[in-house]
Amino acid sequence: MKIALLAGDGIGPEIVAQAERVLLYFKQEGLKIELEPGLLGGCAVDATGKPFPEATRKLSVEADAILLGAVGGIQYDNLPREKRPEQGLLAIRKTLGLFANLRPIVLYPELVNASTLKPEIVTGLDILIVRELTGDIYFGKPRGIEYRDGQKVGFNTMIYSESEIRRIAHVAFQAARRRSGRLCSVDKMNVLECTQLWRDVVTETAQSYPDVTLSHMLVDNAAMQLVRNPKQFDVIVTGNMFGDILSDEASMLTGSIGMLPSASLDDRNRGLYEPIHGSAPDIAGKNIANPLATILSAAMMLRYSFNEETAASRIESAVQKTLKQGYRTEDIYETGLRRTGTVEMGDMVLANL
Ligand code: NAI
Ligand code: MG
Repeated sequence: MKIALLAGDGIGPEIVAQAERVLLYFKQEGLKIELEPGLLGGCAVDATGKPFPEATRKLSVEADAILLGAVGGIQYDNLPREKRPEQGLLAIRKTLGLFANLRPIVLYPELVNASTLKPEIVTGLDILIVRELTGDIYFGKPRGIEYRDGQKVGFNTMIYSESEIRRIAHVAFQAARRRSGRLCSVDKMNVLECTQLWRDVVTETAQSYPDVTLSHMLVDNAAMQLVRNPKQFDVIVTGNMFGDILSDEASMLTGSIGMLPSASLDDRNRGLYEPIHGSAPDIAGKNIANPLATILSAAMMLRYSFNEETAASRIESAVQKTLKQGYRTEDIYETGLRRTGTVEMGDMVLANL
């Protein structure tokens, strides 16, 4: 298991260090894990002038899986777009063909009060959002800002091919089959032709999955339903932009962005695993960031890329036990519980393992 560790910027190195300890624990138990660090994002810009340098491209292509912290920081905000850290992220996803982004939205019972929604709305919440990651308006051309008739106009292109829609639909139907058998596809077919095609292709793909119940929802309604009655959903599949927005919205149902892992997979389950949050420059270097999303991302890696289901569940149980014991980083802290730093949270997960 050759794993590239791309810690990135801000809190990235702090949280990846804790996940690295967990992976090293399993190495010591006998898993054949090899870890190799690389540069992505702002740290790569600082060192090489490029957010996704050639050495990182090579390392990523050769690795079986990648664990990423987060990239970005205000010091890069004035760089030209192609040199920004976030371009490194888009480039690595595109280069590796990581078209399927899986985001489990799970509320740990210990954190029911950390959610901004009422306990009865979120208790037991367990949704999987499947977001297409390499197409849509984020990559479509033409794009840009131009002068037309004496003023600037900005434009982007929303575009999906049938094959792009079909392959993400298959991922979602298969995930639904492993779970409750319910899939909701989200689009905006009443206004956007591109998403009419999305709906048509998803509907056609459903014929191969008679055991899965497919429903469709318009994205504005989906945004509303996610906070009104989120437990009506099991698996949600949607395009890149709607998925970006809905998955961040859904993440808040669980109390903290610091709890949520993600996997981005290609068609052979090679993947990049990362917490869904960013580099949190406001709390970087203070030993207060929550490392659990990154540790849970390592668990997803063991599950999806390496079929190590036992190790993956052991990590998830250790995280849950740590929460049950009352250890809390700042973002999930509640009065009366044990305020815990980044490293100490790692210590507790290891102790519980
Ligand atoms: P962010 O996710 O970094 O932070 C949002 C808020 O959540 C902040 O208050 C932060 O302190 C808090 N937070 C995030 N992760 C946390 C953790 N593990 N523990 C405790 N609190 C946590 O989003 P923001 O502030 O919009 O972006 C900061 C930088 O990160 C920007 O440069 C942005 O472009 C980049 N970014 C990178 C992503 C990635 O690498 N995948 C994703 C999103 C943003
Ligand atoms: Mg986002």
